[in-house]
Parts: sequence; structure tokens; C-alpha cells
Amino acid sequence: MSLQSSVLTASENQEYINEIHTSLAESEQECWRQLKSAIRRKKDPFKTMTVATCTDRGADARMVVLRRIDPTHKYIWFYTDARAEKVLQLEAFPMATLLFWDEKRQIQLRLTVETRLHTDDYIADEHWETLSVSSRKAYLSEQTPGSEQPRPYPGFPEYLGENLPSEAESEAGRNNFAVIECRVLAMEYLHLSRSGQTRARFQYEPESRMVWLAP
Ligand SMILES: Cc1cc2nc3c(=O)[nH]c(=O)nc-3n(C[C@H](O)[C@H](O)[C@H](O)COP(=O)(O)O)c2cc1C
Repeated sequence: MSLQSSVLTASENQEYINEIHTSLAESEQECWRQLKSAIRRKKDPFKTMTVATCTDRGADARMVVLRRIDPTHKYIWFYTDARAEKVLQLEAFPMATLLFWDEKRQIQLRLTVETRLHTDDYIADEHWETLSVSSRKAYLSEQTPGSEQPRPYPGFPEYLGENLPSEAESEAGRNNFAVIECRVLAMEYLHLSRSGQTRARFQYEPESRMVWLAP
């Protein structure tokens, strides 16, 4: 249908509205497809994201690795050390923003999420079981993340050096392991292009709604 036509019949108008809804829904599904495929692709730009949190002293932000995603129920998971500052912040202020940027596709995704912490429950156990010893090494630190040190500290027992812990040694990391579950309340999509930028909001909570936005 030509978008030029200024006067539309009722059925043309309905067709036009359907087209808009279809392309919004397709864009939304494509965003989740790209996030999902990033999990398996090591160098995908959506493999890492910025997590922005609230604190008593203002905003904070840091990079983390995207670990799991459920496009059907709109959930995202990442992992961290249970003693990290971000965990304290999320306990106090569970709302957060996840920010993704894909330079090649020129796409920014901004997700508003409500987080839930898992440390000593079956969900954390289940995620922990999927981790390689190489990933588990990051949870073997004897020092609290962010604590001051008299000299550079590698984040794991120094005797390990470049070696990996054994499976048995890696189990010591379980106590420090935390899964952050993020329920996505809304996703904002921005595609930069010389021919025109495209911005849309896909809202899931409190009700489902998709709408184009002025960039
Ligand atoms: C590319 C990249 C990926 C990272 N992935 C994680 C991660 O998955 N989990 C994590 O806790 N920290 C990760 N970090 C380190 C964090 O950015 C941050 O420095 C650390 O978690 C301490 O943050 P906090 O003091 O706000 O808790 C990553 C850093 C970079 C640069």
C-alpha cells in the first residue's frame, strides 16, 4: 500500500495498521533472535552488555557477559561474584538497565529489567553445573571484589597462575557464585542509518505494547 495516500478507506486503514504491527512484531522478534544467537557466537557484539544500576550515590555501570536468554518468557541471565558491589546495589534497587550496542548492524538495545539474585538455590546450582573449570576460576578469589590490595591481585589463588583449577578445586568457587535473573519489562530498539533512524519500544509489563518512537 502506498503511504502517500492521504485519504484511506476503513479497510485500507486497517491494512495499514496491520502492516505497522507486523513490522513492529518482526523487529521485536529479530532483536530477541540476535540476542539468542550472540550466546553461541564468541565474538558477537551482543555477547557483552553494560548493566546500569542505581545506588544511594547515583548511577553505576559495568560490562558483563550475556549468559542465557529466554525469548519466549523475556528473561536474561548473567553471572557475577556474590560479594561484588553490583549485588549489593541490586539487592537495594532491583531495577536495572541492560545496554547493548552492535557496531556492525548499528543497533542499540536498551532493556529495562527487574532483577532477582540467586546464590544458594537450585537455580544457581543448575547454572553452576554448566560452567567449565575455566569459567569457574573467576569465582575462586580469596579477596572480596573491589577490596583494596597492597599489590596487584589476579582474582584467583596466585598458585594457579595461568593453569586451570581441577574440577574438585573449582568447586570452592560455588560459594562465591551468583546468578542475576533479569525479567525484561521493556526493550527499546534503535537502528542508526543515513536513510533514517528507526526507534521503537517493545513493552511487556505491565501490559504488552509495541510502538514506534521519534528517534
Ligand atoms: C568484557 C567484560 C566482560 C565482563 N564480564 C563480567 C561478568 O560476566 N560478570 C561480572 O561480574 N563481571 C564482569 N566483568 C567485570 C565487570 O565489568 C566489573 O569490573 C566487575 O564485575 C566489578 O563490578 P562491580 O564492582 O560493579 O560489582 C566484565 C568486564 C569486561 C570488560
